[in-house]
Amino acid sequence: MKQNRIDQSGRPDLFTDVELCSDPYPFFEQLRAEGPVFVEPFHDVAIMTTFDTAMAVFNDASKFSACVGASGPLPPLTFVPEGDDITAQIAEHRPQMHCSDLINTYDQPEHPKARSLMLRLFTPSRLRQNETYLRELAERLIDEALASDTVEIVAELGNPFATLVIADLLGIPEDDRALYRDRLTGVPAPIGETSEEAYEQRPLEFLHESFTHFIESRRAAPTDDVLSDLATSAYHDGTMPTVIEVVRITVNLFAAGQETTARLLATALRILVEQQNLQTQLRSEPELIGNFVEEVLRLDGPIKGTFRLTSQTTQIADAELKAGTIVMMAIPTINRDPGRYDRPDEIVLDRPKIREHLAFGRGVHTCPGAPLARVEVRVMIERLLARTSAITLSAAHHGPEGNRRFEYAPTYLIRGLNALHLKLVPRDDLKAG
Ligand code: HEM
Repeated sequence: MKQNRIDQSGRPDLFTDVELCSDPYPFFEQLRAEGPVFVEPFHDVAIMTTFDTAMAVFNDASKFSACVGASGPLPPLTFVPEGDDITAQIAEHRPQMHCSDLINTYDQPEHPKARSLMLRLFTPSRLRQNETYLRELAERLIDEALASDTVEIVAELGNPFATLVIADLLGIPEDDRALYRDRLTGVPAPIGETSEEAYEQRPLEFLHESFTHFIESRRAAPTDDVLSDLATSAYHDGTMPTVIEVVRITVNLFAAGQETTARLLATALRILVEQQNLQTQLRSEPELIGNFVEEVLRLDGPIKGTFRLTSQTTQIADAELKAGTIVMMAIPTINRDPGRYDRPDEIVLDRPKIREHLAFGRGVHTCPGAPLARVEVRVMIERLLARTSAITLSAAHHGPEGNRRFEYAPTYLIRGLNALHLKLVPRDDLKAG
């Protein structure tokens, strides 16, 4: 949906203006300059623009419901909030709310139950096994990329990588994984297109079907694989989840972990092709790549906003938020808050407490996939740099120097390139033959 309406100060509507997507940072800077909480006029969303105000919301799940966590103000609420405590109204209308089957929209008591089941997949030993797989996979995908003249990072490298890594984490049998690579393309819905119809068109239906089959068959005849463990585990209160509850958890991982990781990889590589000195430095000092990934997450991470609904009237900084107010944690401005970070707009590889940004959120919904995403992107960059003598931008796709063209995801939720075409020059000593 394209709309270019502006407010009295000439600012566009963040939630519908596609043009903001190519560079949203000056816009978010302006909002922070207005104050730590900015109430935008188009949808009355209260935008948290600083680290401290965002933390106040992230850390108070009792007054901020995650029921709008997946989509914020679009589509609008299906009810009119009444009074200073709308907890009961949220409970009543939750089943009709958008994406109500995604864990990031759950509150007490469902959220901790589902989350504890999900965290069984993220134990240190499981992540170690998964890292072995993802290292081999990275080499295979780089083999494919080196075999062609140019590679498109999002569709050809990032998406298959992130998809197959999650498939491995879940223990999907090797023979079935090619199908997952084919079916899960991770195309984002356009900005404002949050209708059920747009949602249905995404590959979630395929995931629901295949995981229902996996979980039902493992419940009937458990083996010693990861899927059987998930299928036969009880909630921490001892009750058994239904099949659909387990299926939702698995589907959530693909929905949340695929596109984010692929876009982060593309953003990181765009920086490295545009800053060749940095590329040279990381090729000779690969131990700094982990810190580089943290700074990319902070400076230009793949999530622009996470959302909450104020369930009880409350105060944040100088703003009174009535029950029913939608709140946005505007990650692009929070992570560049000068009150929190020195030189906020620069990549600083030796920044103190470099992992303490909010790209993965904070509080009870903080991203469980963060360790996985970090390893994936670090390993892929390590291996790409180790196996090439140069990585450059394809001028045929992005235009000549001084007149480059890039397209960004047309949505207020995700930040990232739609495509990044690169030329990989294999290292002479590693060339075949
Ligand atoms: C660079 C990559 C990623 C970024 C920047 C990212 C960011 C985030 C953020 C900001 C949240 C919090 C949302 C909120 O507070 O409302 C979140 C939640 C979540 N993420 Fe990630 N994520 C990434 C990768 C992943 C991966 C790889 C997985 C899984 C394989 C994953 C699974 C999830 C899940 C399931 C939630 C919901 C957790 C809950 O509600 O308890 N994410 N992510």
